[in-house]
Amino acid sequence: MIMSCAIAIDGPAGAGKSTIARILAKELEFIYVDTGALYRAIGYHVLGLGLETADTEGVIDALQDLTVAIDYVEGEQHVFVNGKDVSGSIRTPEVSMAASAVSAIPEVRAFLLDVQRGMAATRSVVMDGRDIGTTILPDARIKIFLTASPEARARRRHKELLEKGTAVTYDEVLADMVKRDYDDTHRAASPLRRAADAVLVDTSEDTLEQAVARMKAIVLERL
Ligand code: DC
Repeated sequence: MIMSCAIAIDGPAGAGKSTIARILAKELEFIYVDTGALYRAIGYHVLGLGLETADTEGVIDALQDLTVAIDYVEGEQHVFVNGKDVSGSIRTPEVSMAASAVSAIPEVRAFLLDVQRGMAATRSVVMDGRDIGTTILPDARIKIFLTASPEARARRRHKELLEKGTAVTYDEVLADMVKRDYDDTHRAASPLRRAADAVLVDTSEDTLEQAVARMKAIVLERL
């Protein structure tokens, strides 16, 4: 049997999960898995079909002939829908909201469960998401719940979107974030919550370097 080790990082949007998880994975020589990209890929696909995300039956039907996969291109994670690389199209505010909406559908979560567990079955991973420590990898070696105030998270996400050339205001980003937080924590299926055995890390007052250093210390102490 191949021994693999999993680090689960959960938390709300914009807490710095993906940036920090990517750095940690690189240093540990683990694979970084951004599970939000899988929900985004489904959200993007559903929008592309012209479906409303509130049309639960339509979304479930769309899963019938759908494959969603993660692969690595020059060390970077790419996500594929029916073999097509959609990585460049899934970071818009519309796709964020669609991803959050479809992620509340239990059939969507069940559909992505095996994809996620499969990634961690034979390889050491740093996996980030909302329910990795609670549902996907409950036996993960290390679990971290990474959070920050909504204002700190909206500030960071706004800066990121502006750098990518997306025209949005801070207030729009904050409003989307507050709505997404509410929806992600209040859905019935696998809501965002801290696992009982997850270490809580609040990065509201941290620079990226400080947050990475804190996370690294937590991981190295427990590995
Ligand atoms: O991490 P992200 O912002 O890319 O995630 C997009 C949406 O996908 C998020 O609002 C909730 C959902 N999601 C989820 O429900 N479970 C995960 N493990 C990851 C993301």
